[in-house]
Amino acid sequence: MNRLYLLHLYIVLLILNVFSPISYSLLIDAVSLPSPSGYRFPIYHASELGKPKFHKKIEEWVVELETDVVYVKFPIFKHGIVIANGDIIDEVLKARPEKFRRSSKIEVIFSELNINGAFSSEGDDWRSNRRVITEGVKGIDSKLIEPISQRLVDFISQSIDQDQDEFLLPELFNRYTTEVVSVVVFDFDPMYLQLGTLPDLSEKLLRILPLANKRISSVIPTHKIFSDGLSEIVLEVNGLLRNKIRSLRQLDENNKFLERCIKQEMDESHIIANAFTLFVAAQDTTALTMSWGLKYILEYGCLDNLRLLSGEDFKQQFDRLILESMKKNPVAPIIYLEANEKYTTEAKNDNGQNITIDKGMQLILYTGNCKDKKMKSSKFNKHRNFGGGMRICPGMNIAMDEICIGLKQLITHFNIEVINPGDEEGIFDFLVSPGDLRVKFSKIP
Ligand code: HEM
Repeated sequence: MNRLYLLHLYIVLLILNVFSPISYSLLIDAVSLPSPSGYRFPIYHASELGKPKFHKKIEEWVVELETDVVYVKFPIFKHGIVIANGDIIDEVLKARPEKFRRSSKIEVIFSELNINGAFSSEGDDWRSNRRVITEGVKGIDSKLIEPISQRLVDFISQSIDQDQDEFLLPELFNRYTTEVVSVVVFDFDPMYLQLGTLPDLSEKLLRILPLANKRISSVIPTHKIFSDGLSEIVLEVNGLLRNKIRSLRQLDENNKFLERCIKQEMDESHIIANAFTLFVAAQDTTALTMSWGLKYILEYGCLDNLRLLSGEDFKQQFDRLILESMKKNPVAPIIYLEANEKYTTEAKNDNGQNITIDKGMQLILYTGNCKDKKMKSSKFNKHRNFGGGMRICPGMNIAMDEICIGLKQLITHFNIEVINPGDEEGIFDFLVSPGDLRVKFSKIP
């Protein structure tokens, strides 16, 4: 009798274990995960947040602790996990907007600056902002990008004629990407690819993410006491955008982006917040990806092979190279999220554990490579470079077209030589830049 009872119990437990979506014996509370040592009260692991080598520090933690999800502590009873496991990252990204959100600190910072658009907002606000952005960039014809890539060629050629043949790549490509987003999304032309034009808007926009990064990662909001200059820049850029948007309204009733905003009955401050978001999100991300991409193509000696290809063959080979370069040096490898509620992952870390994440916990998703670690879930796809789930980057296709069209022109018209390779590991300030990457262009006779 006793034996039969035990047998029944065993079978019931076996069934429960097989059919349950989560194997309970392998559950682990996030706070019990391994944590990098040597970080003490009062700021613990926050001492690393946002530093220029923060991305490399994450890799170091993962390698040293031999696990792809680690626990980190922040001041004032806050805590979080760094996730470098592809499957868990995919699951978390897809569970938005219900289960996870962007870190609330991001929304607070962007709201304080009155630029709470599609990137930083949440809930219904995000839904309407996102609709406007998605519609604004939908169906952009890549043919619109081609004339701007020709301007890039002319800009470099004319500079060479004036004995200026060396260029800081991120700066050069920022002129191009700001011009592309201005022209194809807003129908206005800032002429940044004309010799002698100062890229005023582009330069101001470039300072925004690094300063926002400082605010996001600072333990004490010192900017409330000593100005960090961010509010002033945002005010200036907003002024510029307001003027542009007002003049666009008068000039062109059919401007796609504005038309969508007006249809949504969006007030001016929301339109500006989203215009702002589009510029900030589109400009440096694409310029830096182009810079890393060209560096990769030059250093791996792929230039001559690429030049032999045309049409679809070129596009395929080129996309492959850019994706390889993005895998090696992703420009946006860190995504800051926060749990809306208690959540247990269905995917397991590389110790085979499902992880229970508390409500309010901070999540630092790391989509870069942890080189020395043999990651069990290392599947890579281009979408992870652009995030995932409902909040995936809406500019992904434009960015890839922009990069392909721009670099193809350069490869076709110039010989290119690296003068200074920049910082091989990259410098993190929300995005990862190659720093002082300089190249020399000479015209192909
Ligand atoms: C190579 C260039 C680019 C990279 C690597 C990149 C990467 C990213 C990443 C990682 C995110 C976060 C996604 C997530 O949370 O799941 C994002 C969001 C976003 N990106 Fe991009 N991006 C690029 C270009 C662009 C362009 C060209 C545009 C616009 C034309 C754009 C507009 C946005 C917007 C509006 C968001 C916020 C989406 C939301 O929260 O709903 N991005 N991008």
